[in-house]
Amino acid sequence: MQSIFNGKHFISLQEWSKDEIDTLLEVSLDLKKDFAMGNPTPYLLYKTIFLMFFEQSTRTRNSMEAGIAQLGGHGTFLDTSTMQIAHGEVAKDTAVILSRYGHGIACRNCFWGVGNKYLRDLEKWASVPVMNLQCDFYHPMQGIADLMTLREKTGSLKGVKVSIIWAYATSHKKPLSVPLTQLLLFPRYGMDVTLAYPEGYALPDWAIQQAKDNADTHGGKITVTNDMEKAYRGMHVVIPKNWGSWVTDMSDEERDKLLEANKGWKCTQKMIDIADKDVMYMHALPADRNNEVEDSVIDGPHSIVYDEAENRLHTAKAVMTLTMGGK
Ligand code: CP
Repeated sequence: MQSIFNGKHFISLQEWSKDEIDTLLEVSLDLKKDFAMGNPTPYLLYKTIFLMFFEQSTRTRNSMEAGIAQLGGHGTFLDTSTMQIAHGEVAKDTAVILSRYGHGIACRNCFWGVGNKYLRDLEKWASVPVMNLQCDFYHPMQGIADLMTLREKTGSLKGVKVSIIWAYATSHKKPLSVPLTQLLLFPRYGMDVTLAYPEGYALPDWAIQQAKDNADTHGGKITVTNDMEKAYRGMHVVIPKNWGSWVTDMSDEERDKLLEANKGWKCTQKMIDIADKDVMYMHALPADRNNEVEDSVIDGPHSIVYDEAENRLHTAKAVMTLTMGGK
């Protein structure tokens, strides 16, 4: 089956076929090699992408800005608080106008119950590809970088035992888009995925069902547990990360209490020691050091967080190259 990448939106990897994701991985690797060799990659010469951010970013913003420059195009960073959005301009008007000025629109909007709807509105009205830079449900740019990293490190992804584990954090109540994206994506590559969290931090039921369907279709496996130790024992890959108790209907005060009651959900050296001897520690970053994870782990020999973050550049360039320039 032929895939048409030009103009294709990138809101959720669930909407990209496995063949399309495989092509995305291949293009990412080509671009990584070209970057290492200093080869020019002018695939998006004179093209513009608009980068709308409702929230802060280090990796996503800079991988997109550096990436589009390396492809010969231009990225316009838009802090949405300085756009007319702040005065109520609707997604339709923003999408139509930016489509007339350039060749792609990318947006981060993580507000719970709002972000994905906003992205879908942009998608509906834009005449250029819309890229999700993280919403309340999905972070496909992170998901594809994680998949690339795991493929590089493990060779074959089939049967790799990976745990997505809730972790305590103080810094801010993080979205659940990273674990949700990983949960949907990894079983499509035959991985044996464990999702672990303390009570109160469940992911949406529809996401668990989709992940199980993906596992059934592609020979992966999904296990859901409230047992933290089980999620580390014998694992090849562990991804301990905080997310908020967004799914439950709680007051802020109850949420804070629940968070403090689960301080023990930290990635410690002791937990790494019960995993596989060659276990890999991943985190999308930013990490809440000494709350989500001990320094000795994130800075230790099992950590692959910087390789993971580097792949954000190569995969972002591949997404832009295919959707804004490909056939
Ligand atoms: N992982 C990630 O999306 O990082 P930023 O929030 O810094 O973009």
